[in-house]
Formats: sequence, structure tokens, C-alpha cells
Amino acid sequence: MEFITSMFYLFSSIFFIFLLHSLIKFFTSSRPKLPLPPGTLGWPYIGETFQLYSQNPNVFFASKVKRYGSIFKSHILGCPCVMISSPEAVKFVLVTRAHLFKPTFPASKERMLGKEAIFFNQGAYHAKLRKLVLRAFTPEGIKNKVSNIESIANDSLQSLEGRLVNTYQEMKTYTFNIALLSIFGEDGVLYREDLKRCYYILEKGYNSMPINLPGTLFNKSMKARKELAEIVAKILLSRRQMKKDHNDLLGSFMGDKEGLTDQQIADNIIGVIFAARDTTASVLTWIFKYLSENPSVLQAVTEEQEAIVRSKEECGEEKVLTWADTKKMPITSKVIQETLRVASILSFTFREAVEDVEYEGYLIPKGWKVLPLFRNIHHSPENFPDPEKFDPSRFEVAPKANTFIPFGNGTHSCPGNELAKLEISVLLHHLTTKYRWSVVGAQNGIQYGPFALPQNGLPIRLFLKKEATPTPKKLVPTV
Ligand code: HEM
Repeated sequence: MEFITSMFYLFSSIFFIFLLHSLIKFFTSSRPKLPLPPGTLGWPYIGETFQLYSQNPNVFFASKVKRYGSIFKSHILGCPCVMISSPEAVKFVLVTRAHLFKPTFPASKERMLGKEAIFFNQGAYHAKLRKLVLRAFTPEGIKNKVSNIESIANDSLQSLEGRLVNTYQEMKTYTFNIALLSIFGEDGVLYREDLKRCYYILEKGYNSMPINLPGTLFNKSMKARKELAEIVAKILLSRRQMKKDHNDLLGSFMGDKEGLTDQQIADNIIGVIFAARDTTASVLTWIFKYLSENPSVLQAVTEEQEAIVRSKEECGEEKVLTWADTKKMPITSKVIQETLRVASILSFTFREAVEDVEYEGYLIPKGWKVLPLFRNIHHSPENFPDPEKFDPSRFEVAPKANTFIPFGNGTHSCPGNELAKLEISVLLHHLTTKYRWSVVGAQNGIQYGPFALPQNGLPIRLFLKKEATPTPKKLVPTV
């Protein structure tokens, strides 16, 4: 009897589970499928890539937003994607549901920079890297680098005196040298020329066809990458032998108790140079342009910087900048913010949905790319009135939440933002107090590749102020 009762309970439990499973299946499958966001997918495979890149990409995005609203679908670079441009949607993708959207890059870029680099990863490994990178780039980590940054800024500006130069190329040299300083400290100076030679070959292949045959750009790039990793290994070896702590990114990677492999360290160093150099150089180039087009803003920045020089002279302090000085630059800092907004050099970023995701009644299918459109958020009149106008004073009032995100947001947001602002501020201090410059040639074109840049990298001529405006000779009254 007991046996029959047990069997009865067993079978009725199995039956109940089966029934429940069928009911769940019935209700979920009969639920109406969510619609995809509005928009068009263009031609098979090529999608709308041609429309995007045959014109200013911002025209493509702005016309889509106007037509379909802040969420729409498209198909670019061989991938179906959903583009989003409301602050709430961007927060959803980058912050609150970040685990549903993984970072994604073309496989060739991953091979070139190294698949262990921070931006390609998620989860525990990413969190560990992020802690180590942040440790080197927080205000505490970079405070003591101000005087080194200052001497690099001075050398850079001096090297431009009187010459016709491509601002972007020159700023890339400046930001490269700062990147080396923050990664390798003194060792960066020692190996600077070799690191520069290899990195410059590596970057040439960055946008090339990923064909790894002798003689191709991609092949040369991969070889340069190997050589870079060997230089890093050499520096690692000599630091291990000396057993000394270093206050730089390499020191932070080496000090980690859990231990990163040499390969992981090399991938992340190449990755940080890549993330740090062209971004900051583009922003600096735009600042040169905006300041030359807005004389009253240039005047205000110059006065603010001259006041810092004067106060040092009055107190009999050394003429070198300190971290505290860089915090006394409210006008300069608003100019940097406004440049980051107007230029929006990273117009968007890429993520990929790791599962089907519902957002505001729309389906974002698993495997589709999701593009938060930073530039459209920065140029929406709802977030920034008269958005095309360069007006640093708008930052006297803090922007609304999630509307100003030049450094991204959430788990992959930029860990180098403090360093970027510091190196820009220091260069602006010396630029505005000692130099004047004039833009040469056409001034309105913009080139894209991959960052938005003034046409031809903004050719300028730079003069020492006292040379450019010779003081008029005193008129000696005749008797
Ligand atoms: C003005 C200059 C810069 C701008 C506008 C900028 C912007 C950004 C943005 C928007 C992201 C997030 C991308 C995404 O979510 O997909 C990012 C990530 C990153 N940036 Fe920057 N950046 C700048 C300078 C720097 C500097 C100077 C460094 C290094 C010292 C740096 C290191 C990084 C790294 C390592 C990441 C990846 C973080 C992660 O995946 O967790 N950036 N940057």
C-alpha cells in the first residue's frame, strides 16, 4: 500500500512539472513577438554602410534620428544594428544592463591590439584590469607627474616655433610622449625612439585589410606589434632585476598580487597607447581651432593662465606648475568640456546584445550591434540649447544626468579622463601665456578617420608672443 502511495505521488509530481512546463511554453510562444525598432536595413550584406560613409556620418545619424526618433535599426559594416540616442537608452545599455551588452570590435583590430586588452574583455578579468589601470590614472596616481608633463609640453611647443605645422600630427607626438611617461615613467624616455618607431608602423596597419602575407601593411603591423611586446618584455626584465616599485601603469600591472602574464601586460600597454594618443590629440587640435575662432574666449583663458603665473611671481614661488594650479583653471576647464561636447570626437561606440533584450517595447535581437550615439546626445537642442554654438559658459550650470558623456559611461568608461584633462590643461597654460598662432588655409572642412578632425589636421603657424608683436620703439622726444 505504501509503495502504491509513493508511486502515486511520484507520477503526479512528474505530471505536474510536465503540465507547468507546457503551460509556460504555450504562454511564451503565443505572446506576440516584439517588433524591431523602426528604420531600414538597406541592401543585403552592405546594408547602409555606403550611405553612412559617403557623406559626413553625422548627417546620416541626424537624419535617421529626425525620421525615426531616438531608437532605430540600420545595417552597417556587415552587421544589423540598433542605434540609440536618448540619455536613458544609453544609460540602459552602458550602465544598468551593461551585462547584456558586450563590447565588440572587428577581429582584425583585436589581433592587432591584442585580445587580452582591457576593452575586449568583461567580467572578473576586466574588473581586475580596470582596478590596475585606474590605480595609475586617478588624481592620486598622476598628481606627481605634473612637472614632467609640463616639460614635455614646453619642449613640444618650442619645437613648433616659427614653423608651418600640422597641429594634429604635432599633438600626436605630444600625447604619445605623455602616454609613455604615464606607462613607463623614466624607462619611457630610454626606449622612446624604439617604441615610437614600432607603434607608428603598427598604427598604419590598423585600418588595413587583415591579410597576413609578407609585405602587406597588416603583416608589417603584426611584426611591429611583436617587436613592441619584446621591448615591454625587456623593460619588465630589468625592473624585476632591480626590484624597485614604480609609480606608473607598468608598476601597477607588475605589483598585482594575482599576477598578469607578460602577454597580458603587453596587450594592455599597446591598448592604452592606442586609447590615449589620438583621442587626446584630436581634442587638442579642436581646441586650437575653437580658440582661434573665438578671440574673447581665448582672451579669458589667457587672463586666467597669466593670473596663475603672476600669483607665483608675487609669492616668490617656483615657476613650475603644481597639481593645485591645475585646479585653479575654471575657464580653461569649461573650454575643454565645451570642446569635448561640440567636437564629440568619438561619435559613438559599439556593443553587442548577448541575448534578446526588450527596450521600451522593442526587441534588440541577440547578436545585433548596439550603437550609443554620443554625438547626437551632445548635439540635441533638448540637452544643449543652440547646440552648434561653441559656448563654454553653458557649463556654468551642470548638464542634466547622462547628457554629457564624452568619456562614455559605466563599466567601460574612460579610466584616462583625468590624465587627458591634465595634459590638455598644462599645454594650454604654456600655449596661451607664451604663444600666439594663426590657422593657415581653408578653415571649415572636417575629415573623418576615424575621429572627426579639422581639415588637413589644422595647419598653423606658431610664434612666441614677444616675437610676433614686437614692442613699439619708445619715441624719444626731440629737444
Ligand atoms: C580626450 C581624450 C579621451 C577621450 C575623449 C576618451 C574617450 C573614451 C571613451 C568614450 C571610452 C569608452 C568607450 C566605450 O565605452 O566603448 C574610453 C575608454 C577607454 N579609454 Fe579613453 N578617452 C580619452 C583619453 C584617454 C587616455 C588619456 C587614456 C589613458 C591614459 C585612455 C584610456 C582608455 C581605456 C584604457 C579605455 C577602455 C576602458 C575599459 O574598457 O574598461 N583614454 N575612452
